[in-house]
Amino acid sequence: LITLKEAYKDYFKIGVAVNPDTLKNDGELIRTQFNSLTAENLMKPEELQPEEGRFTFEGADQIVQFAKENGMAMRGHTLLWHNQTPDWFFKDGDKTASRELALERMKTHIDTVLERYTDGFYAWDVVNEVIEDKGTDILRQSQWLEVVGEDFIEKAFQFAREASPEMGLFINDYNESHPEKRDKYYTLIKQLVDKGTPIDGVGLQAHWGLEDPSLDNIRAAIEKYASLGLTLQVTEMDVSVFNYDDRRTDLTEPTSEMLEKQAERYDAFFKLFREYSEHIDSVTLWAASDRYNWLNDFPVRGRKNWPMLFDENNQPKESFNRITAFK
Ligand code: G3I
Repeated sequence: LITLKEAYKDYFKIGVAVNPDTLKNDGELIRTQFNSLTAENLMKPEELQPEEGRFTFEGADQIVQFAKENGMAMRGHTLLWHNQTPDWFFKDGDKTASRELALERMKTHIDTVLERYTDGFYAWDVVNEVIEDKGTDILRQSQWLEVVGEDFIEKAFQFAREASPEMGLFINDYNESHPEKRDKYYTLIKQLVDKGTPIDGVGLQAHWGLEDPSLDNIRAAIEKYASLGLTLQVTEMDVSVFNYDDRRTDLTEPTSEMLEKQAERYDAFFKLFREYSEHIDSVTLWAASDRYNWLNDFPVRGRKNWPMLFDENNQPKESFNRITAFK
């Protein structure tokens, strides 16, 4: 049986999100099928710098070590986020930190993380999920926005470029293929580019489902982002078997209709990625198999989902067969 990384070697890297547990339990599958790794959680601000000046690299280092041992590339996630970021970044005693203090902390964090995690890395998410989903505001409310102001994004890219001049510097977001959010995402990135911000690429998280988003909307999003002349990366792909509003909890295994539809969707998505492989240089799945993935807890706690290419026994699913069948 051909592997994912062999099937796609002339197109783009095939990545997977991991943590020390999955490297231990599913290491064989991960090293055989994929050639790029992203830390699912362990390179986020709360993990790398839980208290000011106390950096904790142990877990993240294990992932880098695994990549090195197996000749895999690393994709970094994420220097800045509104989530999984400790409050100390934004506080000065009991008061809110000044813009200057918050920027100094931003710079220290970015410098320190990139000093350690440049070698072996081809890209980093510099900012994650800064776009507001609803209404007309482009930027999401966040402590970075409140304390630093709108230019926190430019500042982050500038600091990252200075710290790691060759790194692929990415902005990353979800609902990237929904027309309204797509247009906001595009507008923000275009403004950044026009201002000369050192940004190299656009991350499409690709948390998709059996119905939504439509293939047409995905294609339109890819074309629109590609028109900016930046590199595209699919950064967190999964295909949920439940529509977002479906809160059923009674299924103990996926139906055959779900698996068939999922295979058709994966097939169509990867066909599209191959078609645009001049722009797309990596596609990362947000877990290796159905055994463990974040959708088992979201949006319904404890409910199982089966969104990945390998099943709960790490065996290839029909989705895997379809996306490798072109070879
Ligand atoms: O570490 C604690 C553990 O000590 C505790 O026992 C356990 C009990 O729930 O929680 C553990 O923390 C969890 C953490 O993952 C580590 O497993 C958090 O509750 C849980 O909320 C957290 O979820 C992560 C989520 O980001 C947080 O926002 C998911 O694993 C991770 O897959 C997800 O990844 C995000 C991307 O970074 C950005 N895009 C969306 C994507 C999916 O939400």
